[in-house]
Amino acid sequence: MADLIDLHMVQSKREAHIASMVDIGVSEEFISELVETFYQRIRADERLGPIFDQEIGDNWDPHLAKMKTFWSTIILKSNTYSGRPVPAHQKLVGVRPGDFTHWLSLFEKTLIDLAPSAEVTEAFMENAKRIATRLESVVELDHSGQEH
Ligand code: HEM
Repeated sequence: MADLIDLHMVQSKREAHIASMVDIGVSEEFISELVETFYQRIRADERLGPIFDQEIGDNWDPHLAKMKTFWSTIILKSNTYSGRPVPAHQKLVGVRPGDFTHWLSLFEKTLIDLAPSAEVTEAFMENAKRIATRLESVVELDHSGQEH
């Protein structure tokens, strides 16, 4: 009985969270546009473009599809993402100190350009910063180059 009540509380918290995101203008369409635009900018970026292209090569379509499920799972609790972010970043080579900060600033600029409100930018950035800190801690950073 207590378990059932807990389950209902978890479900209603989840539903309340989804409703609050929908209220501020987040949708699957918005996530799709955000991901497409952000990775277009990443690919054109002098510093990060080559690191991504080296790993992803001709497989950008599946990567973009995966990243849409990732953000949808985080922000809209859709549970559509199944993947392992830590090993995907552990294997990266040539990531320098400053690269994660640069990633975050490109992501924030894209949000500022596209998000329907500042709250949406904040909701994504809060999660992005937390995850970036975690991922940066598992990457073996390359200290041979210049920071930017
Ligand atoms: C300097 C920063 C970063 C670089 C260079 C980078 C690079 C990459 C690359 C090359 C992949 C593809 C790996 C593969 O297909 O095997 C990848 C996957 C991924 N990245 Fe990043 N990334 C960065 C930061 C972030 C951040 C901050 C997040 C989240 C907020 C993130 C989330 C993900 C996720 C969810 C995947 C898919 C993992 C999977 O399930 O296979 N990345 N990243």
